[in-house]
Amino acid sequence: MSGLPSEFLDLVREKNDIVDTASKYLTLKRRGGSYWACCPFHNEKTPSFSIKQDGQFFKCFGCGESGNVINFVSKMENIDFMSAVELLAKNAGLQMPSDKDASEMQRLKQERDRMYEILKVTAEFYHNNLINNPNSKQANYLKSRNLSEEMIEKFKIGASLNYDDLIKYLLKRGFKAEEMISAGVAGREKNSIYDFYSNRLIFPIFNSFGDVVAFSGRSVEENPEHAKYKNTPQTLIFNKSETLFGYNFARELKKQHMLDSIVIVEGHIDVIMCHQVGITNTIGCMGTAFTPLHAKRLKQLVDNVILCLDGDSAGANATYKAIDTLKSSGLNVRVVRLTGAKDPDEYIKKFGKEKFLEFLENSIDCVDFVLQDSAKKYDLTSNFDKNNYINQALNYISKFSTPAEQEIYLNEVQKLVKIPIDALRRSMNNTAIAVQAHEPELEQTQENLKDKYIVDSKILILAGILYKKIKNVENFSGFFNTDDELSVLYRYLSEKINNNKDFNASMLFDNFDINSKSLIDKVINFNFPQDELFNKLLNDTTKRLNIYMLEQEKERIKTLMFNCSIDERDGYLKKLQEITEKINKEKK
Ligand code: CTP
Ligand code: MN
Repeated sequence: MSGLPSEFLDLVREKNDIVDTASKYLTLKRRGGSYWACCPFHNEKTPSFSIKQDGQFFKCFGCGESGNVINFVSKMENIDFMSAVELLAKNAGLQMPSDKDASEMQRLKQERDRMYEILKVTAEFYHNNLINNPNSKQANYLKSRNLSEEMIEKFKIGASLNYDDLIKYLLKRGFKAEEMISAGVAGREKNSIYDFYSNRLIFPIFNSFGDVVAFSGRSVEENPEHAKYKNTPQTLIFNKSETLFGYNFARELKKQHMLDSIVIVEGHIDVIMCHQVGITNTIGCMGTAFTPLHAKRLKQLVDNVILCLDGDSAGANATYKAIDTLKSSGLNVRVVRLTGAKDPDEYIKKFGKEKFLEFLENSIDCVDFVLQDSAKKYDLTSNFDKNNYINQALNYISKFSTPAEQEIYLNEVQKLVKIPIDALRRSMNNTAIAVQAHEPELEQTQENLKDKYIVDSKILILAGILYKKIKNVENFSGFFNTDDELSVLYRYLSEKINNNKDFNASMLFDNFDINSKSLIDKVINFNFPQDELFNKLLNDTTKRLNIYMLEQEKERIKTLMFNCSIDERDGYLKKLQEITEKINKEKK
């Protein structure tokens, strides 16, 4: 982002129609709802470069480039974003932002600096608590996890001992209640504020430069009513979907030319234990799904990553998803699946560092992993299953490998299904053509088809909102409460609507990292059917999403019931009953 006020960018785009601007460089032909030309950004003979005037953006279906009028001029003139803004502003007779706007930027910067300061002071406070209270339950818990003093220092681990010491301390240091709340260190209840992480063991989260930007507070109680972790929500300086635990240390290694791969684990304690035994190229995903931004950050440091997520089934699902995101950003991904221990921390404690290193040594390429692991879901002695497996495997291979790699992977499949390799090669070529024609499915399992349906539904809803075919935006908020890019887009749009601000597709290019693979690109380029059909689709989609969400809630309750007391059981059963009724009502 440029640092210019977004209102100014809106104005620049408003005053420079993309069709008028592009006509100065290209001969545009009108066809359907769009303008077409041969793409100026790659060599072609038939036009695949299109401009949508109502959305004010361009997209080339040949090379995948897309953007708004500012991006267009910047690429055409080969100048940076800021210079393109200047050029377009001049063209429309607009003054670049004045000192008054600069002072607004100054104010934001001050607010941000102040937030860094609070987090730094808070982290020191927590850390001193831990060091000065070696008999606290937090310190005792930490001892039981065998983390060394050196690691406690390196990761600045800390403790919150109660609800109010931190608040008193920060007030004394001159910070205001509002500042504490917006920095995410205090919560408000009625008229008072309290330490947001009270009574927890504290892991500070650092940005890539090593500044504290957030905290994760781990419960040290056995009480299952306490959430295991409490994390800082999104703030001015913390964005969960681009932060990785331990990234700052990996970045230091890179500067010293001592980094050629990164080991990815789930938990904080896993990262710290790996560092403790000297495996310092380890970072943690903090239990969240990988986003393209996470992947981009990793790619800035290395080409090779090893995924070593938890051994449970949640870890297995997370591994499949992570492979997709990481591989799509061009990383080489290898996989290990832990056996004999639930996570790396436990593995190292049980079997030692050498065995863990051996385990990492034996990591396998992620495509091999998917081919072998997914084969377990099929009965390869039945022809029907065998055929399904082959289709799925070939799809996967053609999505993710170069022709040279394909031979290797085909051999792998051949070993599993035991049919002549020539037959596989032939099917492979057919698949490749089919895959080019349709967007490939990652994996044709029920689970993935369902995921794809959910994603498609969300794209439909967001396109409806973006192009103003949906009015009651609030109705859909329940579908967008995670931190994937579609949820972020939903929140961006509903914020605009709530503040009565106008919006259109071209604005998104200033605010999101959009490429031809991103889902937001699909929202922008959504192909609308006629209104009547769209409304019907929307209706069906909402119904099915509602059912899906209810079913997920049902699954969640079922897991809770797994180890709950007899008393709680009745309550859960009642809830299950209610949900089932709701589902039946939706199905009507
Ligand atoms: N996590 C979270 N909120 C939760 C559970 C987990 O944010 N309610 C994140 C934390 O970053 C955690 C990671 O997911 O470190 C892995 O979760 P888990 O394995 O449950 O926690 P660990 O820290 O590994 O704790 P332990 O080893 O004691 O199980
Ligand atoms: Mn764990």
